[in-house]
Amino acid sequence: MARRIKIFDTTLRDGEQTPGVNLNLQEKMEIAKQLVRLGVDVIEGGFAIASPGDFESIMTLSKNLKGVSIASLCRASQKDIDRAWEAVKYAESPRIHTFIATSDIHMKYKLKMTEEEVLERAVSMVKYAKSFCSDVEFSAEDASRTREDFLMRIVEAVISAGATVVNIPDTVGYATPVEFGNLIKNIRNNVPNIDKAEISVHCHNDLGMAVANSLAAIENGATQVECTINGLGERAGNAAVEEIIMGINTRKDYYNISHKIDTTQIYRTSKLVSSLTGVSVQPNKAIVGANAFAHESGIHQHGVLSEKTTYEIMTPESVGVGKNRMVLGKLSGRHAFEERLKEMGYALSADEVKAAFEKFKDLADKKKVVTDKDIEALVDANIAVP
Ligand code: KIV
Ligand code: ZN
Repeated sequence: MARRIKIFDTTLRDGEQTPGVNLNLQEKMEIAKQLVRLGVDVIEGGFAIASPGDFESIMTLSKNLKGVSIASLCRASQKDIDRAWEAVKYAESPRIHTFIATSDIHMKYKLKMTEEEVLERAVSMVKYAKSFCSDVEFSAEDASRTREDFLMRIVEAVISAGATVVNIPDTVGYATPVEFGNLIKNIRNNVPNIDKAEISVHCHNDLGMAVANSLAAIENGATQVECTINGLGERAGNAAVEEIIMGINTRKDYYNISHKIDTTQIYRTSKLVSSLTGVSVQPNKAIVGANAFAHESGIHQHGVLSEKTTYEIMTPESVGVGKNRMVLGKLSGRHAFEERLKEMGYALSADEVKAAFEKFKDLADKKKVVTDKDIEALVDANIAVP
């Protein structure tokens, strides 16, 4: 049977940590409703103690959204957990997400705590969170740079304390897919009570490997992935939901994984997030970039016009993009040009197409992209239109 993977969307929390992004209550609500349409399992609405605005947004999501878990992030402290619970308690499925750093660097310089103190704090705060909420996620911040034996100990201890999800973040985007996959495999094979909790991963993109690391983790037993729309997030961002999902969908037999995402909602979600955050999507961004389904060279255009799968590994329709796009430029060939003439309503003879194509090539040498308006002008000026 296919293994079910849960999508934990943190666009409204880690995504909002993108420099320059600040979402108000209405904007968060609008994005969250779209995330529900997209089919995510968990929405992390924010960091309740961080600001009154974050608190109110999470509470509003909790009161209004159905069919999805609502989480708030909180440090491993009673005050933080109290605030998180106040914000999520109205949700159909509330989740408290508490974290503490576990790497030597963070414990020494940031927390100024020993390993034993961190372990004790993690356990007592998971128990405290558990006194309010049955669903408690624990994150070992900077897990990928944590000594593995300590990471295993803390994972085992928080599961015994009641954590339902243990999250292994690659906080600084340092891991590579082989390293990260092995880390998840080791946790799965060596933590005795691991079957009592879900293994989650949360990968940052500092080396451009957040999606690859998330997929490696899935292959090695992770059952929840934390990600954001368009890969927004702190610094170089988080793993992009759309890339993880299409990575899985394009090789369904290999992964044998099921998820709840309606991929036809991907493009719409990406557009909404981009317009409300003000962060534009780079044109060559996988899946949702303006060029993701555009073909420019003549060889590619000819291939796609004959059979789409020659140069498309997924259909634009499958991710909610209307259709693919032939970009007409100096590398374009006769096939694509002729096709565009037909789409524009021209019924030209073979000789007329030949003449128009020559004019088009002249123009394409002078211009990066030849638009429909250019073609209209070119045909009308050079070909006798009946
Ligand atoms: O990157 C990270 O480690 C986080 C945790 C708080 C989950 O965002
Ligand atoms: Zn993060």
